[in-house]
This record gives sequence, C-alpha cells and structure tokens, in this order.
Amino acid sequence: MDMEQELEEVKEKCLHCERCPLCKSRTNIVFSSGVPNHKLMLIGEAPGYYEDMQGEPFVGKAGQLLDKIFASVGLSRQKDVYICNTIKCRPPNNRDPLPEEKSACREFLNSQIEILKPKIILLCGRVAATSMIDTTLGITKLRGRWYDGPNGCKMMPIFHPSYLLRNDSHARYSPKWYMWQDIKAIRKAYDALTD
Ligand code: URA
Repeated sequence: MDMEQELEEVKEKCLHCERCPLCKSRTNIVFSSGVPNHKLMLIGEAPGYYEDMQGEPFVGKAGQLLDKIFASVGLSRQKDVYICNTIKCRPPNNRDPLPEEKSACREFLNSQIEILKPKIILLCGRVAATSMIDTTLGITKLRGRWYDGPNGCKMMPIFHPSYLLRNDSHARYSPKWYMWQDIKAIRKAYDALTD
C-alpha cells in the first residue's frame, strides 16, 4: 500500500471518530492539506471556524498569511508542505484543545507522522510545540531552534500566523522579523535534504 492509501485509511477512521465530545459540535473533520510528501510537514493547533466549515486546515486569515510566508522562500503550501493539526475537530469558540482532546486525537497525528516520516516538522505555535516537545518554555524561547523528532527528523517551533496577525511590526526583533529569519533557515534545511 502506498503512502496516500495508508493516509486515506487513517482519514477514514478519523471521519467516524467519536473519541471525544468535539465530534458532537464539528461540521467537518479537518485532516490535512497538501500533497503527502516525506520532506516537510507542518503541525498547527486546531481547526477554527473556517477550517471546520471547509474541512481544510489553515484556510482563514492565518492560513493566508501562512501561504505568503512559504511563498516568500519559494515554497508552495499545496505542493511542498503537508499540513495538519494536533487535533482534527474544532474546539468551541477556538479555545485551546484540552489535554484529553489532544490525547484522544493523538493516534491520528502519530499515524500521519509514521506514514509520511517527514524529514522536517514545523511546529506552528505553542500548542503544537508543546505537543511534540517536552518543555515548559514558551514559544518565544522555543522558536527558531531545531529539536530532534520522530524517526530522526528535525523539528522547528515557529510563531503561529495568528500571533503575527496581532503583531504587525516588521521592525528588527519583532515577531514578523523572527519569522522571516526562521523561514529562511527552514528553506536552507529543506534545500540540504538529499531526496
Ligand atoms: N490555526 C491552526 O492552528 N490550525 C488551523 O487549521 C487553522 C488555524
């Protein structure tokens, strides 16, 4: 079975999932976007209003900014990045996912990682970063550094685009400036991958 078929099987399970109460309020499961590939994966937090409506991650304003961030270094978010979230259903009022929701959903995220075996995983925001890295540090301290991840991959926490939307400055040492440094480092690591 190829990677795409394996992911389809996991998605199929996810579509019928009733492991936590979020299944009652969801409109759609938000499983992933982008072509499955073993180079670059991005893990976000959780679906928001528009993602829940459309069944696709990062389609709202934050997603549009994410597209621009990737495009600024010549990466296409549809062709080059496989995007998913720590949990697949929208939490009410966009609150943070609860620990029990994250653990109920964890098997799906783990399967996505195991099937793709990405070489680079971007952890978008605090919730994604602390789901994959055992730390009490905040995202400001975590971002921009490489951490060892599953199957020998490299993981980098980055600021969440929603945070960047609330912090508009492009000045040196502003969140947007740091994002620009991080995406350049990510592009460099991506180019250094051997296949
Ligand atoms: N924010 C996220 O973290 N994920 C989405 O899919 C949309 C917004």
